[in-house]
Amino acid sequence: MDPYLRYLVNLSTTNPVTVIEDIVTVDGNLLLAAAAPVDEQAYRLLQGKQLAKPLAHYVRLSSLISAAGLLQYLLDTIRSTEYFQSLAERKHPLSSLEPVCAELDKFPLVQQFLTVMSSQMNDLFQRTLCVGLWGLYIAQEMRLPPSDAADVFWAGMTHDIGMLFVDPKILHKTEKLSTEDWQHIQGHVEISRSILASVPGLPAVIVAAVAEHHERCDGTGYPLAKVESELSLAGQILAVADAVVGIYFNRFKAQGRRWREVIPVLEMNRAAYLYRSCEIVSTMIHRSELPLPNVVHGSGVPEFAERMLQQNLHLQNWFIQLRDCLTAVGYTHGDRKLHALQNIIFHIATTFKGTMLFKADLRESLESMASDEGVGMSKVVADASLVQQEMLFHLQRLSRMVQMYIASGEAKDPTIRARIEEGFMNISGYLERPDQPLN
Ligand SMILES: [Fe+2]
Repeated sequence: MDPYLRYLVNLSTTNPVTVIEDIVTVDGNLLLAAAAPVDEQAYRLLQGKQLAKPLAHYVRLSSLISAAGLLQYLLDTIRSTEYFQSLAERKHPLSSLEPVCAELDKFPLVQQFLTVMSSQMNDLFQRTLCVGLWGLYIAQEMRLPPSDAADVFWAGMTHDIGMLFVDPKILHKTEKLSTEDWQHIQGHVEISRSILASVPGLPAVIVAAVAEHHERCDGTGYPLAKVESELSLAGQILAVADAVVGIYFNRFKAQGRRWREVIPVLEMNRAAYLYRSCEIVSTMIHRSELPLPNVVHGSGVPEFAERMLQQNLHLQNWFIQLRDCLTAVGYTHGDRKLHALQNIIFHIATTFKGTMLFKADLRESLESMASDEGVGMSKVVADASLVQQEMLFHLQRLSRMVQMYIASGEAKDPTIRARIEEGFMNISGYLERPDQPLN
Protein backbone atom coordinates (compact mmCIF):
# COMPACT_ATOMS: atom_id res chain seq x y z
CA MET A 1 0.00 0.00 0.00
CA ASP A 2 2.79 2.44 0.88
CA PRO A 3 3.93 3.34 -2.65
CA TYR A 4 0.34 4.24 -3.53
CA LEU A 5 0.02 6.25 -0.32
CA ARG A 6 3.19 8.15 -1.27
CA TYR A 7 1.81 8.89 -4.75
CA LEU A 8 -1.43 10.21 -3.21
CA VAL A 9 0.47 12.48 -0.81
CA ASN A 10 2.61 13.80 -3.70
CA LEU A 11 -0.43 14.30 -5.89
CA SER A 12 -2.33 16.14 -3.16
CA THR A 13 -0.05 19.19 -3.46
CA THR A 14 -1.65 19.97 -6.82
CA ASN A 15 -4.84 17.91 -6.69
CA PRO A 16 -5.99 17.77 -3.03
CA VAL A 17 -6.85 14.28 -1.76
CA THR A 18 -9.32 13.93 1.11
CA VAL A 19 -10.38 11.07 3.37
CA ILE A 20 -14.09 10.33 2.75
CA GLU A 21 -14.62 7.65 5.39
CA ASP A 22 -12.87 6.93 8.71
CA ILE A 23 -9.76 4.91 7.90
CA VAL A 24 -9.48 1.91 10.22
CA THR A 25 -7.07 -0.98 10.60
CA VAL A 26 -8.06 -4.61 10.07
CA ASP A 27 -8.54 -4.73 13.87
CA GLY A 28 -10.95 -1.79 13.77
CA ASN A 29 -8.60 0.88 15.20
CA LEU A 30 -9.20 4.38 13.88
CA LEU A 31 -6.16 5.80 12.07
CA LEU A 32 -7.53 8.86 10.31
CA ALA A 33 -10.99 10.43 10.49
CA ALA A 34 -13.16 11.38 7.53
CA ALA A 35 -12.49 14.83 6.00
CA ALA A 36 -8.77 14.76 6.87
CA PRO A 37 -6.38 15.71 4.06
CA VAL A 38 -4.03 13.05 2.71
CA ASP A 39 -0.79 14.88 3.46
CA GLU A 40 2.59 14.18 5.07
CA GLN A 41 0.98 13.79 8.46
CA ALA A 42 -1.49 11.28 7.04
CA TYR A 43 1.47 9.45 5.52
CA ARG A 44 3.10 9.08 8.94
CA LEU A 45 -0.16 7.80 10.45
CA LEU A 46 -0.96 5.33 7.68
CA GLN A 47 2.40 3.98 6.54
CA GLY A 48 2.98 0.31 7.22
CA LYS A 49 -0.57 -0.20 8.54
CA GLN A 50 -2.94 -2.97 7.46
CA LEU A 51 -6.21 -1.27 6.52
CA ALA A 52 -9.65 -2.86 6.65
CA LYS A 53 -10.23 -1.92 2.99
CA PRO A 54 -7.90 -0.91 0.14
CA LEU A 55 -6.71 2.69 0.65
CA ALA A 56 -8.27 3.83 -2.63
CA HIS A 57 -11.73 3.19 -1.18
CA TYR A 58 -11.14 5.69 1.63
CA VAL A 59 -10.09 8.71 -0.40
CA ARG A 60 -11.35 11.17 -2.97
CA LEU A 61 -9.32 13.29 -5.39
CA SER A 62 -10.46 16.87 -6.08
CA SER A 63 -10.16 16.31 -9.79
CA LEU A 64 -10.41 13.06 -11.75
CA ILE A 65 -9.78 12.10 -15.36
CA SER A 66 -13.24 12.07 -16.96
CA ALA A 67 -14.44 10.13 -20.00
CA ALA A 68 -13.95 13.28 -22.08
CA GLY A 69 -10.47 13.76 -20.63
CA LEU A 70 -9.51 10.17 -21.44
CA LEU A 71 -10.82 10.56 -24.99
CA GLN A 72 -8.56 13.60 -25.36
CA TYR A 73 -5.52 11.63 -24.11
CA LEU A 74 -6.28 8.88 -26.63
CA LEU A 75 -6.68 11.34 -29.49
CA ASP A 76 -3.37 12.96 -28.55
CA THR A 77 -1.72 9.51 -28.55
CA ILE A 78 -3.17 8.71 -31.98
CA ARG A 79 -2.21 12.08 -33.45
CA SER A 80 1.33 11.91 -32.18
CA THR A 81 1.92 8.36 -33.45
CA GLU A 82 2.38 7.91 -37.18
CA TYR A 83 1.23 4.33 -36.99
CA PHE A 84 -2.00 4.91 -35.04
CA GLN A 85 -2.83 7.84 -37.26
CA SER A 86 -2.72 5.71 -40.34
CA LEU A 87 -4.89 3.04 -38.68
CA ALA A 88 -7.43 5.61 -37.54
CA GLU A 89 -7.66 7.06 -41.04
CA ARG A 90 -8.09 3.74 -42.77
CA LYS A 91 -10.03 1.44 -40.59
CA HIS A 92 -10.77 2.54 -37.06
CA PRO A 93 -12.74 5.79 -36.96
CA LEU A 94 -12.12 7.99 -33.96
CA SER A 95 -15.88 8.13 -33.35
CA SER A 96 -15.77 4.50 -32.13
CA LEU A 97 -13.67 5.62 -29.16
CA GLU A 98 -16.26 7.89 -27.63
CA PRO A 99 -18.77 5.26 -26.41
CA VAL A 100 -15.88 3.12 -25.12
CA CYS A 101 -14.46 6.02 -23.08
CA ALA A 102 -17.92 6.87 -21.75
CA GLU A 103 -17.73 3.78 -19.51
CA LEU A 104 -15.09 5.48 -17.37
CA ASP A 105 -17.51 7.75 -15.54
CA LYS A 106 -19.24 4.66 -14.07
CA PHE A 107 -16.11 3.63 -12.18
CA PRO A 108 -14.72 6.37 -9.91
CA LEU A 109 -12.05 4.00 -8.54
CA VAL A 110 -10.71 3.38 -12.03
CA GLN A 111 -10.78 7.16 -12.57
CA GLN A 112 -8.74 7.54 -9.40
CA PHE A 113 -6.07 5.01 -10.46
CA LEU A 114 -5.71 6.51 -13.94
CA THR A 115 -5.50 10.03 -12.50
CA VAL A 116 -2.76 8.99 -10.07
CA MET A 117 -0.94 7.07 -12.82
CA SER A 118 -1.08 9.95 -15.31
CA SER A 119 0.44 12.34 -12.79
CA GLN A 120 2.86 10.08 -10.89
CA MET A 121 3.90 7.43 -13.45
CA ASN A 122 3.35 9.22 -16.71
CA ASP A 123 5.54 6.90 -18.81
CA LEU A 124 3.44 3.96 -17.69
CA PHE A 125 0.28 5.94 -18.41
CA GLN A 126 1.41 6.69 -21.99
CA ARG A 127 2.16 3.00 -22.55
CA THR A 128 -1.17 2.08 -21.01
CA LEU A 129 -2.98 4.29 -23.54
CA CYS A 130 -1.18 2.43 -26.33
CA VAL A 131 -2.07 -0.99 -24.85
CA GLY A 132 -5.72 0.07 -24.59
CA LEU A 133 -5.76 1.22 -28.22
CA TRP A 134 -3.98 -1.89 -29.50
CA GLY A 135 -6.34 -4.15 -27.55
CA LEU A 136 -9.37 -2.32 -28.92
CA TYR A 137 -8.08 -2.40 -32.50
CA ILE A 138 -7.24 -6.12 -32.35
CA ALA A 139 -10.69 -6.90 -30.88
CA GLN A 140 -12.37 -4.80 -33.58
CA GLU A 141 -10.37 -6.60 -36.28
CA MET A 142 -11.55 -9.91 -34.83
CA ARG A 143 -15.08 -8.52 -35.20
CA LEU A 144 -15.89 -9.05 -31.54
CA PRO A 145 -19.19 -7.43 -30.47
CA PRO A 146 -18.62 -3.77 -29.46
CA SER A 147 -19.19 -4.50 -25.76
CA ASP A 148 -16.56 -7.30 -25.82
CA ALA A 149 -14.11 -5.01 -27.63
CA ALA A 150 -14.76 -2.36 -24.98
CA ASP A 151 -13.95 -4.94 -22.26
CA VAL A 152 -10.60 -5.61 -23.94
CA PHE A 153 -9.94 -1.88 -24.06
CA TRP A 154 -10.74 -1.50 -20.36
CA ALA A 155 -8.57 -4.48 -19.48
CA GLY A 156 -5.79 -2.67 -21.39
CA MET A 157 -6.39 0.57 -19.51
CA THR A 158 -6.28 -1.14 -16.10
CA HIS A 159 -3.86 -4.05 -16.51
CA ASP A 160 -0.87 -2.38 -14.86
CA ILE A 161 -2.50 -0.39 -12.07
CA GLY A 162 -0.79 -2.88 -9.73
CA MET A 163 2.46 -1.08 -10.68
CA LEU A 164 1.26 1.83 -8.51
CA PHE A 165 1.81 -0.49 -5.54
CA VAL A 166 5.29 -1.67 -6.52
CA ASP A 167 8.23 -0.12 -4.70
CA PRO A 168 9.58 2.60 -7.06
CA LYS A 169 13.11 2.00 -5.72
CA ILE A 170 12.98 -1.46 -7.30
CA LEU A 171 11.34 -0.22 -10.50
CA HIS A 172 14.06 2.39 -11.01
CA LYS A 173 17.00 0.27 -9.92
CA THR A 174 19.90 0.59 -12.34
CA GLU A 175 21.85 -2.41 -11.06
CA LYS A 176 20.86 -6.01 -11.81
CA LEU A 177 17.56 -7.03 -10.24
CA SER A 178 17.66 -9.89 -7.72
CA THR A 179 15.23 -12.81 -7.77
CA GLU A 180 13.31 -11.11 -4.91
CA ASP A 181 13.11 -7.88 -6.95
CA TRP A 182 11.63 -9.77 -9.90
CA GLN A 183 9.14 -11.53 -7.66
CA HIS A 184 8.13 -8.17 -6.20
CA ILE A 185 7.61 -6.66 -9.68
CA GLN A 186 5.74 -9.70 -10.94
CA GLY A 187 3.43 -9.27 -7.97
CA HIS A 188 1.84 -6.33 -9.83
CA VAL A 189 -0.41 -8.79 -11.68
CA GLU A 190 -2.06 -10.12 -8.53
CA ILE A 191 -2.33 -6.59 -7.11
CA SER A 192 -4.06 -5.35 -10.29
CA ARG A 193 -6.40 -8.34 -10.14
CA SER A 194 -7.37 -7.99 -6.49
CA ILE A 195 -7.81 -4.20 -6.67
CA LEU A 196 -10.01 -4.48 -9.76
CA ALA A 197 -12.03 -7.29 -8.18
CA SER A 198 -12.92 -4.77 -5.46
CA VAL A 199 -14.31 -2.21 -7.96
CA PRO A 200 -18.12 -2.43 -7.78
CA GLY A 201 -19.75 -3.43 -11.06
CA LEU A 202 -16.55 -3.90 -13.08
CA PRO A 203 -17.18 -6.82 -15.50
CA ALA A 204 -15.50 -10.07 -14.39
CA VAL A 205 -14.11 -10.61 -17.89
CA ILE A 206 -11.95 -7.48 -17.45
CA VAL A 207 -10.61 -8.71 -14.11
CA ALA A 208 -9.85 -12.15 -15.59
CA ALA A 209 -8.08 -10.66 -18.61
CA VAL A 210 -5.93 -8.45 -16.38
CA ALA A 211 -5.00 -11.48 -14.24
CA GLU A 212 -3.80 -13.21 -17.43
CA HIS A 213 -1.87 -10.44 -19.14
CA HIS A 214 1.54 -12.00 -18.44
CA GLU A 215 0.40 -15.58 -19.04
CA ARG A 216 1.56 -17.15 -22.31
CA CYS A 217 -0.11 -19.79 -24.51
CA ASP A 218 2.93 -22.08 -24.26
CA GLY A 219 2.88 -22.04 -20.46
CA THR A 220 5.95 -19.81 -20.06
CA GLY A 221 4.08 -16.91 -18.45
CA TYR A 222 3.23 -15.91 -14.89
CA PRO A 223 1.81 -15.92 -12.25
CA LEU A 224 0.14 -19.31 -12.83
CA ALA A 225 1.94 -20.62 -15.96
CA LYS A 226 -1.43 -21.33 -17.57
CA VAL A 227 -1.63 -22.72 -21.11
CA GLU A 228 -3.72 -21.64 -24.09
CA SER A 229 -6.78 -23.76 -23.30
CA GLU A 230 -6.99 -22.20 -19.81
CA LEU A 231 -6.82 -18.59 -20.98
CA SER A 232 -9.62 -16.21 -21.96
CA LEU A 233 -9.79 -14.59 -25.38
CA ALA A 234 -9.73 -11.10 -23.84
CA GLY A 235 -6.69 -12.09 -21.75
CA GLN A 236 -4.77 -13.28 -24.79
CA ILE A 237 -5.63 -10.23 -26.88
CA LEU A 238 -4.42 -8.10 -23.98
CA ALA A 239 -1.21 -10.17 -23.69
CA VAL A 240 -0.40 -9.57 -27.37
CA ALA A 241 -1.28 -5.86 -27.13
CA ASP A 242 0.95 -5.50 -24.05
CA ALA A 243 3.79 -7.42 -25.74
CA VAL A 244 3.64 -5.31 -28.90
CA VAL A 245 3.76 -2.09 -26.86
CA GLY A 246 6.54 -3.53 -24.67
CA ILE A 247 8.72 -4.50 -27.64
CA TYR A 248 8.24 -1.07 -29.13
CA PHE A 249 8.86 1.00 -26.00
CA ASN A 250 11.55 -1.15 -24.38
CA ARG A 251 13.67 -1.89 -27.40
CA PHE A 252 12.74 0.09 -30.48
CA LYS A 253 11.66 3.61 -29.62
CA ALA A 254 14.98 4.75 -28.19
CA GLN A 255 16.78 3.40 -31.28
CA GLY A 256 14.46 5.31 -33.60
CA ARG A 257 13.03 2.04 -34.91
CA ARG A 258 9.40 1.84 -35.88
CA TRP A 259 6.24 -0.10 -35.11
CA ARG A 260 6.68 -1.83 -38.49
CA GLU A 261 9.69 -3.67 -37.11
CA VAL A 262 7.72 -5.25 -34.29
CA ILE A 263 6.28 -7.86 -36.71
CA PRO A 264 9.28 -10.20 -37.05
CA VAL A 265 9.96 -10.11 -33.30
CA LEU A 266 6.36 -11.06 -32.63
CA GLU A 267 6.54 -13.79 -35.27
CA MET A 268 9.59 -15.27 -33.66
CA ASN A 269 7.71 -15.56 -30.38
CA ARG A 270 4.48 -16.69 -31.95
CA ALA A 271 4.17 -19.89 -29.87
CA ALA A 272 3.79 -17.76 -26.76
CA TYR A 273 0.78 -15.81 -28.02
CA LEU A 274 -2.62 -16.50 -29.42
CA TYR A 275 -1.90 -17.31 -33.05
CA ARG A 276 -4.88 -15.41 -34.43
CA SER A 277 -4.07 -12.19 -32.65
CA CYS A 278 -0.44 -12.33 -33.84
CA GLU A 279 -1.70 -12.72 -37.38
CA ILE A 280 -4.00 -9.76 -36.92
CA VAL A 281 -1.26 -7.52 -35.55
CA SER A 282 0.98 -8.40 -38.52
CA THR A 283 -1.84 -7.76 -40.99
CA MET A 284 -2.75 -4.47 -39.34
CA ILE A 285 0.81 -3.19 -39.43
CA HIS A 286 1.30 -4.39 -43.02
CA ARG A 287 -1.93 -2.77 -44.11
CA SER A 288 -0.92 0.54 -42.62
CA GLU A 289 1.64 0.57 -45.47
CA LEU A 290 4.11 2.57 -43.50
CA PRO A 291 7.47 2.54 -45.22
CA LEU A 292 10.08 0.14 -43.92
CA PRO A 293 12.94 2.22 -42.56
CA ASN A 294 15.89 0.08 -43.57
CA VAL A 295 14.79 -1.20 -46.92
CA VAL A 296 16.05 0.18 -50.18
CA HIS A 297 14.24 0.75 -53.41
CA GLY A 298 15.05 0.85 -57.11
CA SER A 299 18.70 0.68 -58.11
CA GLY A 300 19.85 -0.03 -54.55
CA VAL A 301 18.02 -3.36 -54.45
CA PRO A 302 20.65 -5.67 -56.06
CA GLU A 303 23.40 -4.42 -53.77
CA PHE A 304 21.18 -4.73 -50.70
CA ALA A 305 20.18 -8.28 -51.72
CA GLU A 306 23.81 -9.26 -52.21
CA ARG A 307 24.82 -7.95 -48.77
CA MET A 308 21.83 -9.61 -47.16
CA LEU A 309 22.68 -12.91 -48.86
CA GLN A 310 26.27 -12.77 -47.65
CA GLN A 311 25.16 -11.91 -44.15
CA ASN A 312 22.62 -14.72 -44.24
CA LEU A 313 25.30 -17.32 -45.08
CA HIS A 314 27.61 -15.81 -42.49
CA LEU A 315 24.95 -16.01 -39.77
CA GLN A 316 24.10 -19.58 -40.62
CA ASN A 317 27.74 -20.63 -40.25
CA TRP A 318 28.04 -18.67 -37.03
CA PHE A 319 24.93 -20.32 -35.65
CA ILE A 320 26.12 -23.85 -36.55
CA GLN A 321 29.56 -23.28 -35.00
CA LEU A 322 28.10 -21.85 -31.83
CA ARG A 323 25.58 -24.69 -31.52
CA ASP A 324 28.26 -27.35 -32.10
CA CYS A 325 30.57 -25.69 -29.60
CA LEU A 326 27.92 -25.74 -26.90
CA THR A 327 26.31 -29.11 -27.55
CA ALA A 328 29.36 -31.28 -28.33
CA VAL A 329 30.15 -31.55 -24.60
CA GLY A 330 26.81 -33.25 -23.87
CA TYR A 331 24.37 -32.43 -21.12
CA THR A 332 25.50 -34.51 -18.16
CA HIS A 333 28.21 -32.18 -16.88
CA GLY A 334 26.20 -30.76 -13.96
CA ASP A 335 27.51 -27.24 -14.67
CA ARG A 336 24.59 -24.83 -14.23
CA LYS A 337 26.18 -21.96 -16.13
CA LEU A 338 26.88 -24.16 -19.09
CA HIS A 339 23.33 -25.54 -18.98
CA ALA A 340 22.03 -21.97 -19.16
CA LEU A 341 24.12 -21.26 -22.27
CA GLN A 342 22.94 -24.53 -23.85
CA ASN A 343 19.36 -23.54 -23.13
CA ILE A 344 19.86 -20.24 -24.93
CA ILE A 345 21.22 -21.86 -28.09
CA PHE A 346 18.33 -24.33 -27.97
CA HIS A 347 15.90 -21.44 -27.63
CA ILE A 348 17.50 -19.58 -30.55
CA ALA A 349 17.27 -22.73 -32.68
CA THR A 350 13.57 -23.28 -31.99
CA THR A 351 12.73 -19.59 -32.33
CA PHE A 352 14.29 -19.22 -35.76
CA LYS A 353 13.18 -22.63 -37.04
CA GLY A 354 9.70 -21.26 -37.67
CA THR A 355 11.01 -18.33 -39.72
CA MET A 356 12.11 -18.18 -43.34
CA LEU A 357 15.62 -17.09 -42.39
CA PHE A 358 17.64 -20.13 -43.44
CA LYS A 359 15.23 -21.47 -46.06
CA ALA A 360 16.23 -22.07 -49.69
CA ASP A 361 13.26 -19.95 -50.86
CA LEU A 362 14.71 -16.84 -49.26
CA ARG A 363 18.15 -17.43 -50.77
CA GLU A 364 16.60 -17.90 -54.21
CA SER A 365 14.66 -14.63 -53.87
CA LEU A 366 17.79 -12.83 -52.78
CA GLU A 367 19.84 -14.30 -55.62
CA SER A 368 17.32 -13.17 -58.21
CA MET A 369 17.09 -9.71 -56.61
CA ALA A 370 20.87 -9.46 -56.56
CA SER A 371 21.23 -10.28 -60.24
CA ASP A 372 18.41 -8.20 -61.71
CA GLU A 373 17.68 -4.55 -61.08
CA GLY A 374 14.10 -5.03 -62.22
CA VAL A 375 13.19 -7.27 -59.28
CA GLY A 376 11.68 -5.22 -56.47
CA MET A 377 11.86 -5.85 -52.76
CA SER A 378 9.07 -8.17 -51.60
CA LYS A 379 7.47 -7.87 -48.18
CA VAL A 380 8.73 -11.38 -47.39
CA VAL A 381 12.32 -10.31 -48.01
CA ALA A 382 11.78 -7.04 -46.14
CA ASP A 383 10.58 -8.96 -43.10
CA ALA A 384 13.38 -11.49 -43.47
CA SER A 385 15.87 -8.63 -43.25
CA LEU A 386 14.40 -7.71 -39.87
CA VAL A 387 14.50 -11.33 -38.68
CA GLN A 388 18.12 -11.42 -39.80
CA GLN A 389 18.93 -8.40 -37.62
CA GLU A 390 17.36 -10.25 -34.69
CA MET A 391 19.49 -13.33 -35.37
CA LEU A 392 22.60 -11.15 -35.48
CA PHE A 393 21.64 -9.62 -32.14
CA HIS A 394 21.07 -13.04 -30.51
CA LEU A 395 24.30 -14.57 -31.84
CA GLN A 396 26.39 -11.59 -30.74
CA ARG A 397 24.86 -11.72 -27.30
CA LEU A 398 25.29 -15.46 -26.78
CA SER A 399 28.82 -15.44 -28.21
CA ARG A 400 29.83 -12.77 -25.69
CA MET A 401 28.25 -14.82 -22.90
CA VAL A 402 30.28 -17.87 -23.92
CA GLN A 403 33.39 -15.72 -24.05
CA MET A 404 32.70 -14.48 -20.52
CA TYR A 405 32.01 -18.02 -19.30
CA ILE A 406 35.42 -19.14 -20.54
CA ALA A 407 37.18 -16.07 -19.13
CA SER A 408 35.48 -16.27 -15.73
CA GLY A 409 37.09 -19.60 -14.85
CA GLU A 410 33.77 -20.72 -13.41
CA ALA A 411 33.61 -23.88 -15.48
CA LYS A 412 33.35 -26.89 -13.16
CA ASP A 413 35.24 -29.37 -15.28
CA PRO A 414 38.58 -28.30 -16.85
CA THR A 415 38.28 -30.83 -19.69
CA ILE A 416 34.88 -29.45 -20.66
CA ARG A 417 36.18 -25.92 -20.38
CA ALA A 418 39.06 -26.76 -22.70
CA ARG A 419 36.67 -28.25 -25.25
CA ILE A 420 34.41 -25.21 -25.16
CA GLU A 421 37.41 -22.94 -25.48
CA GLU A 422 38.65 -24.90 -28.47
CA GLY A 423 35.23 -24.74 -30.13
CA PHE A 424 35.03 -21.05 -29.41
CA MET A 425 38.19 -20.36 -31.44
CA ASN A 426 36.04 -20.71 -34.55
CA ILE A 427 33.49 -18.27 -33.21
CA SER A 428 35.68 -15.51 -31.82
CA GLY A 429 36.43 -14.40 -35.39
CA TYR A 430 32.75 -13.58 -35.87
CA LEU A 431 32.82 -11.39 -32.79
CA GLU A 432 35.99 -9.57 -33.79
CA ARG A 433 34.53 -8.75 -37.19
CA PRO A 434 30.86 -8.55 -36.41
CA ASP A 435 28.56 -8.07 -39.35
CA GLN A 436 27.32 -4.58 -39.74
CA PRO A 437 23.58 -4.14 -39.62
CA LEU A 438 22.10 -4.01 -43.11
CA ASN A 439 20.78 -0.46 -42.92
FE1 LIG B 1 2.08 -6.01 -16.53
